[in-house]
Amino acid sequence: MALRTILTLPHPNLRQKARPVSDFGAELQQLVTDMIDTMHSSQGVGLAANQVGGLAQVIAVEMPLLESDEPDADPPPPHAGELFALVNPRINWHSRGTETGVEGCLSLPGIAGEVERYREVRVQARNRHGKPFSMRFEGWLARVFQHEIDHLNGVVFTDHIDDPENVWPVTPGEEEEAAAAGWQAPV
Ligand code: NI
Repeated sequence: MALRTILTLPHPNLRQKARPVSDFGAELQQLVTDMIDTMHSSQGVGLAANQVGGLAQVIAVEMPLLESDEPDADPPPPHAGELFALVNPRINWHSRGTETGVEGCLSLPGIAGEVERYREVRVQARNRHGKPFSMRFEGWLARVFQHEIDHLNGVVFTDHIDDPENVWPVTPGEEEEAAAAGWQAPV
């Protein structure tokens, strides 16, 4: 397992546009595998290549599947527990409706903030082997995809926040607690 170092602001990679991928060979496969391992080990729900120093259009997303002991608990949301490793992703459709939610980012440790995102998006991409892919996501997963695709364009979540009151410090302990509660995890 090869873990990569997660870059944090003000590292310039986080402000650069990632290049489209045309070669689906060994180098890309290693990058994707390393990104998945790095995402898992840092308990993130998403990671973009810019965050680990690979300026290629690659993202990994996985919404944790939280088991509940409650007999009448809600069923897990669609695609929970499903691992997405997408190459050259684009949002080719989005809902008119937006919603505001809390985000954090592995590249901006120690802060969280409220960001307005489209409620539903359709993502077009290729999988790690080059096969075309298109899927609709809503709610929290739609938010994660918008956050990760932003990274590929050199954009971070705080760029969407105008009011400084909508960004606040989070201590590492609180971040872990929030992640355990399942309502927020750094992406
Ligand atoms: Ni992020």
